[in-house]
Amino acid sequence: MRVNLTVNGSEEAVDEVWEGESLLYMLRERMGLPGSKNACEQGECGSCTVYLDGVPVCACLVAAGQAQDREVVTVEGLAQGPPGEERLDAVQEAFVEAGAVQCGFCTPGLIVQTHDLIERNPAPSDAEIREALAGNLCRCTGYEKILDAVRLAAERRAAAR
Ligand code: FES
Ligand code: FES
Repeated sequence: MRVNLTVNGSEEAVDEVWEGESLLYMLRERMGLPGSKNACEQGECGSCTVYLDGVPVCACLVAAGQAQDREVVTVEGLAQGPPGEERLDAVQEAFVEAGAVQCGFCTPGLIVQTHDLIERNPAPSDAEIREALAGNLCRCTGYEKILDAVRLAAERRAAAR
């Protein structure tokens, strides 16, 4: 089947999608967007988190067909600027600067979830950060650097406003 959707601001039509295919598979394997990671494919780890109509979802749990006529934003789409001249979003920069990235498998999902948190709550407490990121698992960092990155991203956003 064909799926028509908007991805990172661009209208797309994707052909030959099979009925059981996940949004994650379609993004990664058919659309050249490997940023969202496939770590568990069961909705457990959050590595595949993308925005669907402005709400973070696990792309591995969403059927590709459910994205018909809807808007998806992936971690690639958070970067600012025209194609070829993109700059990292403040959240992406903060994860790099805080040393919150090791193997990087969890990072795209954490960045999308953090982006959403800070949009909704520009000055989250540590408890609110932990709650917002509770569905995003990391097996490398011990989470402290991730908390540092979220705090740094919130500070940067606040300073830019
Ligand atoms: S790959 Fe989707 S939640 Fe783990
Ligand atoms: S950096 Fe490796 S899983 Fe988080």
